[in-house]
Amino acid sequence: MADKREKFGGRLAVILAMAGSAIGLGNIWRFPYMVGEHGGAAFVFVYIFATLLISLPVFLAEVMIGRRSHTNSRDAFARLSRQHPFWKAAGYLTILIPTLIACYYSVIGGWSVEYFIKSCGLAFVQMEPDEASGFFGAFVSSTWTPVIMHLLFLGVTVAVVAGGVKSGIEKFSKISLPVLFVLIIMILTYSVSLPGAGDGVRYLLHPDWSELTPRTFAYAMGQSFYSLSLGMGAIITYGSYVSKKENILATSTGTAVSDLMFAILAGFAIMPAVFAAGIEPGAGPGLIFQSIPYVFSKMGTTLPVVSSVVAILFFLAIIVAAMTSIISLVEVGVSFLVERAGMSRGRACLVLFLICGSFGVLCSLSFGPLAEMKVAGMTVFDLFDWVCSNILLLLMALLAVIFVGWVLPRRVVHDEFTNGGRLPFNERLFPVVYFLIKWVAPIAVVIIFFTNFML
Ligand code: PFF
Repeated sequence: MADKREKFGGRLAVILAMAGSAIGLGNIWRFPYMVGEHGGAAFVFVYIFATLLISLPVFLAEVMIGRRSHTNSRDAFARLSRQHPFWKAAGYLTILIPTLIACYYSVIGGWSVEYFIKSCGLAFVQMEPDEASGFFGAFVSSTWTPVIMHLLFLGVTVAVVAGGVKSGIEKFSKISLPVLFVLIIMILTYSVSLPGAGDGVRYLLHPDWSELTPRTFAYAMGQSFYSLSLGMGAIITYGSYVSKKENILATSTGTAVSDLMFAILAGFAIMPAVFAAGIEPGAGPGLIFQSIPYVFSKMGTTLPVVSSVVAILFFLAIIVAAMTSIISLVEVGVSFLVERAGMSRGRACLVLFLICGSFGVLCSLSFGPLAEMKVAGMTVFDLFDWVCSNILLLLMALLAVIFVGWVLPRRVVHDEFTNGGRLPFNERLFPVVYFLIKWVAPIAVVIIFFTNFML
């Protein structure tokens, strides 16, 4: 069975597929509002630091687990630990987490679909700027449209996954990322030129260190893991499709750096618009959906054609970026059901559609009819996001680094990192990376984990 597993075709394909998983709504939708809620520039600095020092080693650890075990993420731990009962059980978490995330991620994907449709009808360009930014509230609190859009988005995703890893995922990422990159830069250029945008740029560049609390660290790390798709089996699963000849340091660093760049570009595209539109930076999940239509509407007053085209392409690119990410979530569950439960790919996809579709409906309704239904003071949507990003992801990432740092023999880790000693640069870097995986990452994650509960 192992030999029949598909493989990505070469380094660029690996980076694009992994970056396709990493770069998504986490960068464009979640990062800007996390920055707004947790202290602006101070958060950004901690985020960059956490990505390079902690998330990158965790990323490497996950790729190694995937490539070494050459199987789905649930079985990876079992296989490499020679069926140790603890690790066999831990493997189930790698199936649970992505499935939970896919439930609410798909709701935001659905919002993007609605915004795409609206921009095709030139809605934002024709609205007054204030009206455009106010459109969001009425939309998300309605019952049917967000639910239908969520199911539509999820349905298309699942259909792509049903088409297989190589044909579906690779093709998608190759086109969407460069397009998104160009569009973000265009929007950024326009957004910083808006009157009042300077405050947004200052907000991102001048840290107010008094805003730096233990919570900032915890949320920055949670965001960094989320953004790199860590702690959820996705990178382990993609790692299992990486060829033995690939230099995993190069592919992992390439992915982490492009993900970081995207988040920062998105921050600079969105925050100046937020300030220019007079929106509260801590406005939460709706931030981008309020600020970006404002930009298009403003642009529409002087450049209606450009604004219409950019709006349509932008929401299309967001949909595709969200899709290449959610595909990697669904793929985890699918590869498990196929290889473990012997299901056909089609049936496994259907099962995931039903599970994520139903919970996603609850998440979607929590912005409207179910807004008052609270668990521990949080709506269903917030609860899903909080439990996943601030608890489960950290827990799973911790297990991954403990596994590579403490359970796998050092010789095996060395062998994976250096391709059996054939990569001299990796050879030199190995002691540092091993130290980060074995000591720094686990200790940092434990501290942050407790911070989330204590403070
Ligand atoms: N990293 C993705 C993003 O930033 O949008 C989100 C994501 C993808 C989360 C894959 C989890 C995952 F397994």
